[in-house]
Amino acid sequence: MVDCGAAPGSWLQVASGRVGPRGRVLGIDLKAIDPNGLPSNVQVVEGDVFEADAPDLLGGKADSVLSDMAPDTTGSPSADQFRSARLCEQLLDRLPGWLRPGGACVMKVFEGEAYPELLKRAGACFERAKGYKPAASRAESVEMFLVCTGFLGDSAPGAGSVPARPRPQRPAGW
Ligand SMILES: C[S@@+](CC[C@H](N)C(=O)[O-])C[C@H]1O[C@@H](n2cnc3c(N)ncnc32)[C@H](O)[C@@H]1O
Repeated sequence: MVDCGAAPGSWLQVASGRVGPRGRVLGIDLKAIDPNGLPSNVQVVEGDVFEADAPDLLGGKADSVLSDMAPDTTGSPSADQFRSARLCEQLLDRLPGWLRPGGACVMKVFEGEAYPELLKRAGACFERAKGYKPAASRAESVEMFLVCTGFLGDSAPGAGSVPARPRPQRPAGW
């Protein structure tokens, strides 16, 4: 599993349990994540998600990709919503190289003007894609989650694989 925008690491704790002792979780964030106290099946990387070579670090394509990434807010709700949707679009661009066919992806997005187009694109890449507002998310917040299952892989219309960047050193044991 890949957890994008993983700092400080709450989702990593849950994801570790969900994948089980034989699964692996890769957490990536622009901010450093303290690895102390994280379960042994979690690896963390500091850096930009879009510069990372997740399949190399995981040893293959992931079964699922999560994103809680959020842009730095600007004070302009409209700009923030576009930037949030842009992060999701960029992640969709990466999925053919990162996610196995049939896999799942859950992405946080600030709902706004760009949301319908994003939902449409996700719907073309997956068998199912729908928006979900969890009870734990504040009603006044525009954040919601795009839950996508049944990744179509390279057969998805418009699925464009972004070439991998130079490979970072794989930590011992990975
Ligand atoms: C709401 S926080 C994530 C909280 C996390 N899910 C947890 O459980 O602790 C959003 C994170 O997205 C990260 N982020 C935003 N854009 C990113 C990018 N391009 N690459 C990596 N991380 C990014 C931010 O640094 C921030 O830490």
